[in-house]
Amino acid sequence: MIPSINNICCIGAGYVGGPTMSVIAEKCPEITVNVVDINANRIDLWNSKDLNNLPIYEPGLAKIIKNCRGKNLHFSTNVEKEIKNADMIFISVNTPTKTKGIGAGKASDLKWVEVCAREVAKYATGHTIVVEKSTLPVKTAEVIKNILENSNEKQEENNSTFDVLSNPEFLAEGSAINDLLDPDRVLIGGESNIAIMALHNVYRNWVANEKILHTNIWSSELAKLTANAFLAQRISSINSIGAICEATGADVREVARAIGTDSRIGSKFLDSGPGFGGSCFKKDILNLVYLSNYFGLREVANFWEGVVQLNSWHQHRISELIVKKLFGTITGKKISILGFSFKANTNDTRESAAITICRDLIEEGAILKIHDPKVNKYQIEDDLNLEEHSHLLSKDNFKIQRDGAWIFSEDIMDSFEEVDAVVVLTEWFEYSKLNWEIISKKMRKPGWVFDARSIISAKDVINSGLKLWRIGDGSID
Ligand code: NAD
Ligand code: UDX
Repeated sequence: MIPSINNICCIGAGYVGGPTMSVIAEKCPEITVNVVDINANRIDLWNSKDLNNLPIYEPGLAKIIKNCRGKNLHFSTNVEKEIKNADMIFISVNTPTKTKGIGAGKASDLKWVEVCAREVAKYATGHTIVVEKSTLPVKTAEVIKNILENSNEKQEENNSTFDVLSNPEFLAEGSAINDLLDPDRVLIGGESNIAIMALHNVYRNWVANEKILHTNIWSSELAKLTANAFLAQRISSINSIGAICEATGADVREVARAIGTDSRIGSKFLDSGPGFGGSCFKKDILNLVYLSNYFGLREVANFWEGVVQLNSWHQHRISELIVKKLFGTITGKKISILGFSFKANTNDTRESAAITICRDLIEEGAILKIHDPKVNKYQIEDDLNLEEHSHLLSKDNFKIQRDGAWIFSEDIMDSFEEVDAVVVLTEWFEYSKLNWEIISKKMRKPGWVFDARSIISAKDVINSGLKLWRIGDGSID
């Protein structure tokens, strides 16, 4: 008989665990959903009264939290208790790239997943369905199952038994709530049909039957890595074509439109930008590279590694180009940076192109004024990871600083004062509505605008007397 799920525990209250469980709680009022995390500070923020203080920013999330929190959605650090009570446990912890040891720089670090599996083995009671929500290398389910069944911490009196499913998450940040409410598909991989159907029935509360795909567990794990690799590959492809456009006088937007109308190619994910960021693409491709090498498929590994290499080259290419346009030197020049998150509508900065580009510009001696509507200065400081004195804390310091530093711009209009250039790195809507007439008057001349997201009006910039460089647009120069 297919068990009905009454109590879900999700381990990991991050960008995936938080929004995913919120949507499950909203759509399944009869299920109690407990999200647990070892990071007490993060849990406090999930519980904060002021919904502007939630640890992650996602459009639509605060409303769901308001509806469900304290009713059937709870955030706590009580990992042991919630594992004990759960009949289904999602593992949604971080799986970053290993920084040392075997596979360093490519393989996923599974230490957090293993800790979770051991905790589940220790505390779970009765039959529990364990769901891999984290993105994991192929065959991880086998490791989890092995730990669950053989861990010496397992308590006999708990009579625990387990099924393991793979249910990768395809949400994109910035549109997570919509992606969860209306997914293209939900993927469930597993060996036990009964366990698969138990999870299927949870999703059936709001997702159509035909959108819930069942596969074997290894296909499910590999499909997640493959989806991200294909998406990232499209971005490196269009960015590589953008570079050719700039060299030839073609316009990458026109090329993208022309190829995107071919129904086999499709029009989505063809926006040339400053290079892909986010916590997933690079990590998941490098994971695929590691797996390919592990199985002796060197050509396959090289093919996918090229996608990441091109992305890195492309980001540095933008930094170099800025230096070149500003007469070959930016030492002591003031530059306004618009956007630090890796894409709009999120406060996440992981792998953001802004980190690489800002570091390059500071290294070349520029003094940056960095603005972002949702990223705070402490996060930027952490990401840039520079010597302490390079973070200028007052406007006075900014005026007298000679080279290689940055200051956080609270007020966007403030960030244009006396700058030689403005660089748009994130496609926040508010940047597309700027008044270039006013901005131009504040800037030093000749002043440049570098639009790495193609979101501002070229006409307005040029009419205001500024020079414009736009990503992938060889027709402007
Ligand atoms: P995250 O870093 O935002 O959150 C992970 C959380 O897990 C952290 O808060 C951490 O404290 C917690 N944690 C780690 N070990 C724990 C333990 N033993 N017990 C309790 N809590 C623990 O990560 P994320 O962005 O939510 O990603 C989670 C997984 O989902 C990763 O595998 C990622 O690849 C995958 N994924 C992410 C996205 C995305 O857009 N961020 C999309 C799809 C899939
Ligand atoms: C991605 C996948 O889209 C999602 O399915 C998976 O679950 C997690 O990884 P995410 O990284 O949150 O989601 O955002 P996404 O919209 O994919 O953007 C990734 C990066 O690519 C961003 O830096 C974005 O600006 C960039 N991008 C995206 C482009 O440069 N051009 C595009 O056309 C699309």
